[in-house]
Amino acid sequence: MGEGARSFCGKEAVVTPAIEQAFRHAVSEAYCFVGQTAPNPAVGCALLDHQGRLLVAAAHHRAGEFHAERLAVERARALGLVEKIHTVVVTLEPCNHTGRTPPCTEILLTTPVQVLWIGCRDPNPFVKGKGAARLEAAGCAVYWLEQSRNGGEVLSLCQALIAPFVWRMLHRRPWITVKQALNRRGDMHPPAGQKTFTSRESLCFAHRLRRVTDGIITATGTVRADKPELTVRYVSDHVARKRTLVVCGQEKNIPAEWLCIMRERFVVSLCTDCHSLPQLLSQMSTLWMLVEAGPTLLKVLHDVGLWDDWLTISHRQSEENCEENKSAYHQPDQWYVTRQHDITPISLLPEWAQCQQEQACFPVL
Ligand SMILES: NC(=O)c1ccc[n+]([C@@H]2O[C@H](COP(=O)([O-])OP(=O)(O)OC[C@H]3O[C@@H](n4cnc5c(N)ncnc54)[C@H](OP(=O)(O)O)[C@@H]3O)[C@@H](O)[C@H]2O)c1
Repeated sequence: MGEGARSFCGKEAVVTPAIEQAFRHAVSEAYCFVGQTAPNPAVGCALLDHQGRLLVAAAHHRAGEFHAERLAVERARALGLVEKIHTVVVTLEPCNHTGRTPPCTEILLTTPVQVLWIGCRDPNPFVKGKGAARLEAAGCAVYWLEQSRNGGEVLSLCQALIAPFVWRMLHRRPWITVKQALNRRGDMHPPAGQKTFTSRESLCFAHRLRRVTDGIITATGTVRADKPELTVRYVSDHVARKRTLVVCGQEKNIPAEWLCIMRERFVVSLCTDCHSLPQLLSQMSTLWMLVEAGPTLLKVLHDVGLWDDWLTISHRQSEENCEENKSAYHQPDQWYVTRQHDITPISLLPEWAQCQQEQACFPVL
């Protein structure tokens, strides 16, 4: 029996290197689609043979399309590998109900699966546990990462993948990440004639955040000062992704031509009172929103606690060393993430390793 299968025989669930690797494959596959699955969560799935070797990894691409498990099984079938499926590794419990697509449990039961490893429980109380129970009743051995003694690291990755989905389900609003760039004087204002002052690495980080989020919250002060494009540049974007844009402030303070361009690019909403922002956001299908606004709006959001994590990009160069000045790239900006919760979806981004973390204020997940 191969390494991937050996631990399943004992009573205690032990994550072998093969299972851990499979979870990492499933998470990285799912990460490719973070920012386009809303209102569904990003989910990944890996199929292993009886020796724990990876056959196929797949992820849910967008709402209405195949769930990760089904796509993985279809791919295995197309490759003639379906009869080799022994172990299924999924970042989120497989569904057991018919939504826009058939139940994943039934798809999995068309294969010779014997072992199922699950990352996170479904947060929906009406769905939770039912997928696992269905597969167990059909003779499949089901293991949960949370019950394993050594799966904490990959469990955190799986939780980060669905954190915005869980938050939305529990609190009826999307996860909100604030991005704030500070110059060395601790000031948010770019030098005259510039829209930005951070390093190229910081710009890539910021644009990667735009890619993985479902929309942007900005405000009229920033709009008037910068007329920002708010597109994903520096990194590739999802194809034909139309995100949400919320502009806080009064319409009369938004340049008409800018608003016209934004309406083509985004689904635009205006918000004249931030206290109604959660209600406004609850009506949208967004899971994760990025705030890109000036100090006035950020103070309001901070004061009312309407944020989940706060990324501060601290630029240490003098103003002359702007983005266009290559010498600025040699002195990296510092990135700080202050978190309200134990888990953050920012931890999925490659830049996370360079972020200094503030302590979580209270656990919610
Ligand atoms: N460094 C960075 O990370 C960064 C990011 C973005 C922008 N900026 C810079 O920030 C500067 C602009 O900052 P700013 O403070 O003047 O503008 P801002 O924060 O972007 O926008 C301020 C506007 O927000 C609206 N607002 C305030 N409180 C509100 C509330 N409770 N509910 C709804 N709307 C509310 C008001 O609009 P009305 O007056 O229309 O009511 C207010 O004038 C620019 O220089 C820009 O380049 C820097």
